[in-house]
Amino acid sequence: MEESDFRKLAESPLTDVLKRAQLEGYVGKGDILNHLKSSALFFECILRQSLTLSNLDIVDIGSGGGLPGLVIALLLEDYPRASITLVEASKKRADFLEDAATYLKLNDRIKVFWGSAATYKKRNQNVTHNLGTARLFAGLPVTLEYLAPILSVSSKLIISAHSLDSIKTDNRFIEACNLLGIQYVSKEELDDHWFWIFQKVQNNDSRFPRDKEAIKLSPLFEANRDCE
Ligand SMILES: C[S@@+](CC[C@H](N)C(=O)[O-])C[C@H]1O[C@@H](n2cnc3c(N)ncnc32)[C@H](O)[C@@H]1O
Repeated sequence: MEESDFRKLAESPLTDVLKRAQLEGYVGKGDILNHLKSSALFFECILRQSLTLSNLDIVDIGSGGGLPGLVIALLLEDYPRASITLVEASKKRADFLEDAATYLKLNDRIKVFWGSAATYKKRNQNVTHNLGTARLFAGLPVTLEYLAPILSVSSKLIISAHSLDSIKTDNRFIEACNLLGIQYVSKEELDDHWFWIFQKVQNNDSRFPRDKEAIKLSPLFEANRDCE
């Protein structure tokens, strides 16, 4: 993203919305421009996936105060048919997202679902989303287990990562990918921000996502955060 485009974004009403979200505790601490930047890089990452932007039907899980969902919605302004569904388990945060979408005049592009990603799946058995995102949602195995089942085959999954994150690519990982119907694509760095990229390549096993306890107690595979 050009510096001038980022400045335009930083000077838009979105920054005020994110500051309000931060005051409520829906966005993490620190310079709001850094949060904005990392979400704008999600969009850059989308641009690198050779997707048809006008057909995007995105689902973002654990949207919190709107990162990266609101940012992506705003950056898709030239693609009126593109849409994003924000799935958020907390009622207060989901209400905040609804109000933010109205304030930013993005109602035609943003849908908010109040409920967990598992409930979203239960209520929407025939999903049509063709791109999934998650920022700071949970560990990689958990995020993939919730995100993959709500995506159609061929979708890309873009998930925030830490530079030190790694996957133990053993048989468990291969089996987990088979069960979730996904394939590992890459771990990408953009401007010191990291992203896991996966692709859905076949239908997932219908038992997924498992219930919350099972997901917590027995993650499908091992992902590490190596210490330097
Ligand atoms: C750490 S916050 C991250 C929020 C935002 N994505 C960001 O980057 O600032 C995680 C969010 O996920 C929501 N959440 C937790 N479990 C969830 C679930 N199973 N389904 C949907 N949302 C969930 C929480 O309420 C919280 O808003």
